[in-house]
Amino acid sequence: MDTIRIGILGCGPRGMQMAWVTKLIPEYFTLTCMSDPDNNALESAQKNFPEIKLFQSSDELLDSGLADAVITEIPPAIHTEYVVKALERNIHVLGEIPAVNSYEEGCYLWEKVNSAKALYMGGANPNYREKTYFALELKKKGKLENVAYIETSYIHDLSRSKDAWRSTYESCRYCTHSLGPVLKLIESAPKTVSCMSTGDRIGNGCSHNAMTATYQTENGILIRLLTAFSMPYKGPAHTTKIFCKSGIVELYNEKARCWLPADTDPANPQQEDFVEIPLSVNGASRPDRLKIIDEEMFRKASWGHNGSDLFMMQDFADAILNHKPSPVGIREALQMTLPGIYAAESAREGGALKQIKYPWDQTNK
Ligand SMILES: NC(=O)c1ccc[n+]([C@@H]2O[C@H](COP(=O)([O-])OP(=O)(O)OC[C@H]3O[C@@H](n4cnc5c(N)ncnc54)[C@H](O)[C@@H]3O)[C@@H](O)[C@H]2O)c1
Repeated sequence: MDTIRIGILGCGPRGMQMAWVTKLIPEYFTLTCMSDPDNNALESAQKNFPEIKLFQSSDELLDSGLADAVITEIPPAIHTEYVVKALERNIHVLGEIPAVNSYEEGCYLWEKVNSAKALYMGGANPNYREKTYFALELKKKGKLENVAYIETSYIHDLSRSKDAWRSTYESCRYCTHSLGPVLKLIESAPKTVSCMSTGDRIGNGCSHNAMTATYQTENGILIRLLTAFSMPYKGPAHTTKIFCKSGIVELYNEKARCWLPADTDPANPQQEDFVEIPLSVNGASRPDRLKIIDEEMFRKASWGHNGSDLFMMQDFADAILNHKPSPVGIREALQMTLPGIYAAESAREGGALKQIKYPWDQTNK
């Protein structure tokens, strides 16, 4: 296989963005086809990519023989259905996050992925953000030992957008963007959760202005996760604060702020202060190490989430072409998805403490 023939299910905003991302790395991918039942969405794909084949039915795309791999840029409710349909046809899949909608779906996908010949990778682009690399690098250097507490948040004011589903969606279920990078860092999964919702305090007609989940991992680390999709806020903003033995590390999309007192000169303790490290050369657009040949295309891809979409797709291609294990396997995808499903259950019961189950737990086999 010279390059991977890639198809994209869904021609909404994210499908189009990922289509441009594949065009930015032609050494790995040839975009051959896209699908969407919506005619307007198909028209937009046709206008942007006249050379590809378009389908109204994703099933027809999967049966066309035109794709070695697909990406599922379709509504979350049908992610699992189409990931499984692709795997059953030996088509590699980058499955959008959240990976599943329920514990039962998680068990089903776990079985299907584990028995598939084709590769499944969770589409966890936040794991490829520059700040995630930065934190992993600090960890390698022994600067993030004995993590005790993590505060992380995803705030994105979508209350005025056309995304009707966001007005009732339990935002705590969209925990993958925050939990993915955090779990990579602490290598431990949440085991219990209590979550509460503001309800509609602001009065904008959305069911939840914000939801806050407190997780405890199997090794005792506390994680507080705020997801807010209907509060006035200048964003979107993803933030993580890691409290550990050496001090504190704060991660933002474009920069990190560290206060690690052991690193400062003991003779000048007064000089101890936060050190700010920029992670992107160009404001929000890209990390230092990302080389872009076609600027126009890069802009069309909405900068691919600060380049993280490109790094993720390169890893996906590398795993397929070189028969490597999945860079974000089904276990990781479920570990970053299922906690949010239990958090929503807890919030519906006013914050009741819930035990989080995973398909691989001994007790559930
Ligand atoms: N990882 C990220 O950073 C990120 C960012 C944005 C969205 N997403 C996820 O990507 C997915 C798509 O997001 P979006 O904003 O484009 O959503 P959207 O709802 O605006 O668009 C989804 C598109 O899928 C189409 N569709 C519905 N059923 C289909 C089917 N069976 N086959 C093919 N197409 C079908 C719809 O007609 C629509 O055009 C969602 O799951 C969302 O959560 C992820």
